[in-house]
Amino acid sequence: MATKRGKLIVFEGLDRSGKSTQCARLVEYLRQNGSTDVKHLRFPDRTTPIGQMINNYLAGSSQQEDHVIHLLFSANRWELAQTIESAIAGGTTVVVDRYYYSGCVYSAAKQNPSLDLAWCRHPEIGLPRPDICLFLDINAEDAANRGGYGNERYEKQDMQDRVRGLFGEMRIHEDEKDDIVVIDAGKDIETVEKCVQEAVRVAIERVDSGDRP
Ligand code: ADP
Ligand code: TYD
Ligand code: MG
Repeated sequence: MATKRGKLIVFEGLDRSGKSTQCARLVEYLRQNGSTDVKHLRFPDRTTPIGQMINNYLAGSSQQEDHVIHLLFSANRWELAQTIESAIAGGTTVVVDRYYYSGCVYSAAKQNPSLDLAWCRHPEIGLPRPDICLFLDINAEDAANRGGYGNERYEKQDMQDRVRGLFGEMRIHEDEKDDIVVIDAGKDIETVEKCVQEAVRVAIERVDSGDRP
């Protein structure tokens, strides 16, 4: 029998919505209960030269023009596109902490008139398409109460409010809406984890049964 392909599973949401927590838990769960290898990635990947430029920008130690930083975030995903594709083709499931949805909505939330959601989407076209995007939904105020934000550039409530609104717009977009599952991220960690596992189970089954190429 041919090897089943791996799946591409993405976590999205505001800063402090619980993505990194749930991503780590899902990776662990799939490693113990799934029948495939699992690769854990995150964007931005701050380890590459482009990732280091992004890190300096987020930390406030360098400035970038809005379109330039948008394209750097996108390039940082393209750096790994082939790795993701090969992993999936070889039967490895890839779990990713943030992906092109963040790329689009954080840039569009800057309210630069020549950087709307449609413009932001372009450089992302052609990246491997997720089998499921788990959107961890929480309002900006509750997220901020989780220990408070750090000092990174976008960790401010008005920015996060706009980001949440734009995530909402992406969720109704024709090309994305079937890929996104909304999870109530205001619940406790274990409850969220169970919801994530169930949504992922359904997505994996859909791919393996041929409902999704
Ligand atoms: P993100 O990666 O989305 O920024 P994290 O997973 O780093 O979020 O979580 C941010 C903070 O909130 C951490 O201190 C984490 O322990 C805590 N946290 C995560 N999920 C929950 C939850 N469901 N309820 C309460 N606190 C949470
Ligand atoms: P991340 O390290 O995932 O932050 P957190 O764990 O707090 O959620 O992401 C850093 C910041 O980068 C975050 O504010 C979102 C932003 N970002 C973009 O603006 N564009 C992108 O393409 C990505 C992946 C992240
Ligand atoms: Mg995180």
